[in-house]
Amino acid sequence: MKILLVCLGNICRSPMAEGVFRQLAHERGLDWKIDSAGTADYHIGEAPDRRARQVSSEAGVSIENLRGRQVEKADFDHFDWILALDRANLRELQSLAGAQHSARIGLLLDPFLEGKEPAEVADPYWGNIEEFRACRAKIQRAAEKFIERAG
Ligand code: 4NP
Repeated sequence: MKILLVCLGNICRSPMAEGVFRQLAHERGLDWKIDSAGTADYHIGEAPDRRARQVSSEAGVSIENLRGRQVEKADFDHFDWILALDRANLRELQSLAGAQHSARIGLLLDPFLEGKEPAEVADPYWGNIEEFRACRAKIQRAAEKFIERAG
């Protein structure tokens, strides 16, 4: 299974999500290919945000070597799943995808908010380190749910 995680900048949520999915797939012996990207071009080539690196490292995952990239057309045929971290980026993906593509596009749901609006992983960019910790924990729970369903 090939999964692409997508947020806006590809420096906070989706690199943390890439680390979470890599770690979970590794623990479960799943040979999944995981990548992340942003819908925006603000941070192409940049390392993840310092706070995202710190909270990932605390959880035993290094995301130091990841670099920001933007979603590209080819992604829509390369990946099995493209998962947005929030609804704005889901809408952006749906409009970028065009009519013909093989990837399934969905939302990485916050399980605490599932069934309520908006069940999404909000942007922690303007928050402090505690918000990054909470954001990563939320991503972890959402990823575990996704893997239960798709694994
Ligand atoms: P991300 O967070 O989408 O989780 O990577 C953001 C990073 C940068 C910006 C916004 C959100 N920005 O406006 O530069």
